[in-house]
Amino acid sequence: MAIVWHPDTREFHLQNSYVSYIISLLPDNSPGLAYFGRPLDLEGRYSRLVRFEDRGLTTHQSGLPSSFCLDYVPREYPTYGRGDYRIPAITLETEHGFPVILDLQYREHWIVQGKPSVPGLPATYCDSDAEAESLMLTLEDPSYQVQVDVHYTIFRDYPVIARRASIRNGGVQALRILRAYSAVLDLDSSDWDFIHFSGAWARERHVVRRPLAPGLQSIASSRGSSSAQHNPAIMLARREATETAGEVLGALLVYSGNHSIEVEVGSHGDTRIALGINPFGFKWNLSPGDVLETPEALFCYTDHGFGDLSLSMHQLLGRHLVRGWWRDRERPILINNWEATYFQFDEQKLLDIARSAKDLGIELFVLDDGWFGKRNDDRSSLGDWEVNRDKLPQGIEGLACKIVDMGLSFGLWIEPEMVNPDSNLYRQHPDWAVGSILERRTLGRNQLVLDMSRLEVVEYLYDTLSQLLSQVPISYIKWDMNRHITEPVSAALPADRQGEFFHRYMLGVYELYRRLTEAFPRVLFESCSAGGNRFDAGMLAFAPQAWASDDSDAIERLAIQWGTSFFYPPSAIGAHVSAVPNHQVGRITPLWTRAGVAFFGAFGYELDPNKLSESDKAEIRAQVDFYKAWRRVFQFGRFYRLAGFCAAGGATGGMTGGPAGTGQGWPGSRPAGNSNLVAWMSVSEDSRRAVVLIVQVLARPNPGFYRIPLRGLDPDLSYQVRCRPALPVKDEAAIRYNEGLRQGDELINVGLLLGGDGWNGLSRGDFASWLFTLEG
Ligand code: DGJ
Repeated sequence: MAIVWHPDTREFHLQNSYVSYIISLLPDNSPGLAYFGRPLDLEGRYSRLVRFEDRGLTTHQSGLPSSFCLDYVPREYPTYGRGDYRIPAITLETEHGFPVILDLQYREHWIVQGKPSVPGLPATYCDSDAEAESLMLTLEDPSYQVQVDVHYTIFRDYPVIARRASIRNGGVQALRILRAYSAVLDLDSSDWDFIHFSGAWARERHVVRRPLAPGLQSIASSRGSSSAQHNPAIMLARREATETAGEVLGALLVYSGNHSIEVEVGSHGDTRIALGINPFGFKWNLSPGDVLETPEALFCYTDHGFGDLSLSMHQLLGRHLVRGWWRDRERPILINNWEATYFQFDEQKLLDIARSAKDLGIELFVLDDGWFGKRNDDRSSLGDWEVNRDKLPQGIEGLACKIVDMGLSFGLWIEPEMVNPDSNLYRQHPDWAVGSILERRTLGRNQLVLDMSRLEVVEYLYDTLSQLLSQVPISYIKWDMNRHITEPVSAALPADRQGEFFHRYMLGVYELYRRLTEAFPRVLFESCSAGGNRFDAGMLAFAPQAWASDDSDAIERLAIQWGTSFFYPPSAIGAHVSAVPNHQVGRITPLWTRAGVAFFGAFGYELDPNKLSESDKAEIRAQVDFYKAWRRVFQFGRFYRLAGFCAAGGATGGMTGGPAGTGQGWPGSRPAGNSNLVAWMSVSEDSRRAVVLIVQVLARPNPGFYRIPLRGLDPDLSYQVRCRPALPVKDEAAIRYNEGLRQGDELINVGLLLGGDGWNGLSRGDFASWLFTLEG
């Protein structure tokens, strides 16, 4: 790993064993990207890769050759107004609204070992300076003395470049920022597909893939959270890219608020990616001497397909973003009472659930919503974080102590950012609610949002929650956030600062998270927002896991966890087994399949074990024992998608064969969420242990044969293959063909053999699954 400055050609070369990122200073003295891809020789010179020629209908700056037109040269932090008509990284105006036409020119640079932290914002980090090297380019506008520090980090072990920008007003007049993207990446071709992870409540992060077309295509959130609608991460992939081959470029924003990721295909077949805080509604006052820090953006490049990108991102986020006590520790198996009781519980009911859970081998009991104020439904009491003694006469402490005495850890749900109009907190501090100065406000789940941009609100919440965490033996916190923000104005901000509200809100949330996680380092935080409405890298920097979705149906979860897995590691994905019929879709799936899908994450249960039959209890006991034995592989293993939802346009998996018309086994377009067969696997760090899940959504009569080649194994090792059905179907082909000692190279090149059953009643039926373990 190195960052080299070549003064003769005025270029910077960031290089490790996986990528080179080469920045050239252009004729106008601004930086432009000459190359991002597989590593090139560090001693080579590459400025000539930035090409410009005379074209019709172009502009050029006086004193520079007419061939140098900003509209099609690659630019690292582009401005508008001097001939580049593509998306700018930054736009400013004076405090009186006069447009500031910036001319950001290179002034100086610094190269340092390691990675500096970002004030006030979550970001990736290194354990030692040997793991990364960073470059800071200072650009300056000569007229307004605006300085932009463009920061770069190259990691030793990942094909990833971290970028962000700090914007400083070094002049004497007050300015206003209208747009401050974290980074722009200009590519010299538009022959890419645009892939994003979109959805809604209970169906988050479904993969969407479409070819790039001239003009703008984008995803964004203006909801106050990163959102269930569009996750702040995208990929560009060559049309032919699959799970195992082809060029793929990922861009992810480490931010939990309003974001925007824009992709623009320019008029000369070039592609610009610009990402950062959503400029919609954003205005930031920058007085002389002020600095605005933008969130970190991560760019990942590979020519080994989606699978390789995911492995790199899982490791980077898991080891260099998640932090603290829980980073590398196995996460406990939990039981959460939400779907078991909703708001209707008392101490006895909770203790009964906990006792049965303990008997099943579960390790952590989590008390969800409804324990405080007068909260018996979702109409009141958010903000009143005092126990409801009608339900819990001995308080949270009394309940927690009884649970801890049973040998379980105790976890608690909170929703600190919210307040119900029917609450003591609201009656005392009506102005603490977002939009309080407006006459009419919009409710979401009967609640208002607390103004986290106000220091006194953050302070109050810190005092309240730290008191709770100090008094009660709490090992785990589920931090929820159950609505989008409306009427985004703050009673504490003057009129000309209202455009700062959304970002200040996020800074307040991060500050509260930072203080609580620093004060209580052993508490495991799980973030949640009506399920996966704030499942993002910003949250992961504080909460090592996140509740992936309110949809706990195993079949819908296939699509959700599939999409989530492109960037986020399994240890971050909260996944639970719930009761049937499923509460979100009414589907009845086998208990084994529900567990099989949830195993590939931070595992738990969300049901009342006292309502289970003895045979279901026995099965859960076996699931819990099994998960404990394989937990490290499930949570921290290398995760591979084998077959299932395409990143669309072509199968991403390596499955071969399959009966025509079944939707099984063909490279070919299957819309996301509509795949009949999904398979994925996790492999231990030393490649000696692996688990493979295969889920067949609908059973087919008289099926054809197919096979699923495996990945990540050691070709030279022999593996003992076992099929782990809870209730094996007698003489099942899946067992006959696969169990026994098999060589790694055969499992990689041929794979597991399936599709033999189903012609004479041997089928497991709809929503069947097989879980194979491999031990070498
Ligand atoms: C939404 C969460 O996603 C659920 O798991 C549950 O905690 C409810 N909120 C409680 O209100």
